[in-house]
Amino acid sequence: MTLSQFEIQDIDQTVLLWLEEVRKQTLIAMQQQLDVDTKHDVRDLVTNVDRGNEQFINTKIRNFDSNATIVSEEGFGDHQRDMQGNVWFVDPIDGTMNFVKEKDNFAVMIALYIDDQPILGWILDVVNNVVYHGGPQIGVLSNQLRLDPPSDDALSDGIVLLSGARLLYGMFGYDKIAKAALGYRVIGAAGPSFLRVISGHAVGYSSKMMPWDFAAGQVLAKTLGLSVSDIDGRPLDMLSSNIVLVATNRAHRDILTLHKS
Ligand code: IPD
Ligand code: CA
Ligand code: CA
Repeated sequence: MTLSQFEIQDIDQTVLLWLEEVRKQTLIAMQQQLDVDTKHDVRDLVTNVDRGNEQFINTKIRNFDSNATIVSEEGFGDHQRDMQGNVWFVDPIDGTMNFVKEKDNFAVMIALYIDDQPILGWILDVVNNVVYHGGPQIGVLSNQLRLDPPSDDALSDGIVLLSGARLLYGMFGYDKIAKAALGYRVIGAAGPSFLRVISGHAVGYSSKMMPWDFAAGQVLAKTLGLSVSDIDGRPLDMLSSNIVLVATNRAHRDILTLHKS
């Protein structure tokens, strides 16, 4: 099914209204005592806000789109087996460690793919009250401001963002990539890291991610002409974890070459 630009804009505006509400609820919850649990290990956190946001967003999606299937992190989604139809991705708080400890550098992310095609992505920076949103048919906006593609800088001319744990253990060639870049940083959250590449503040970002970590960022980055693949240069598998690489076209080539060497 092909949607018109008008229909896409209508979906975009609807989701922006949900995100306004999610932001208000998240800010209120941050004033109160958070209920923090661990999942797979002591660094894998989940809070009442992660769960509450996911329930809220998934309910909105189901009421809005009766054909929706939802891939989301905290268990309120569906067990999606393929990318046919309207597939929504939800990360209710991305960067939960940052959310709990820094009270900054976290995001709420939603994406819509139809028949495996990226349609729209939204990354809400709650603290700074900015939503990055859009897709191939409407371009990328930061709130109402249209974004231009970032300049095509090489790895040696910019900052690369990497997963801290994998950098520490020298996995996926991250040590070589960090040395070859002008600078390197560990942000600790996928959405805020994607945003730094999308807005031209970093030339690349790589980490192991689940689909809800990269679905929105991939839509926005590809729309702006950035390269998104796995660390071997293959397209991302939308239904499992990937070692994701998003970068300017030049930095993407530089990183793939280093990874292979
Ligand atoms: C995590 C963060 C982290 C990334 C992990 C994600 P969460 O998201 O984005 O930077 O390395 O793979 O799981 O669990 O805080 O939503
Ligand atoms: Ca999350
Ligand atoms: Ca996440």
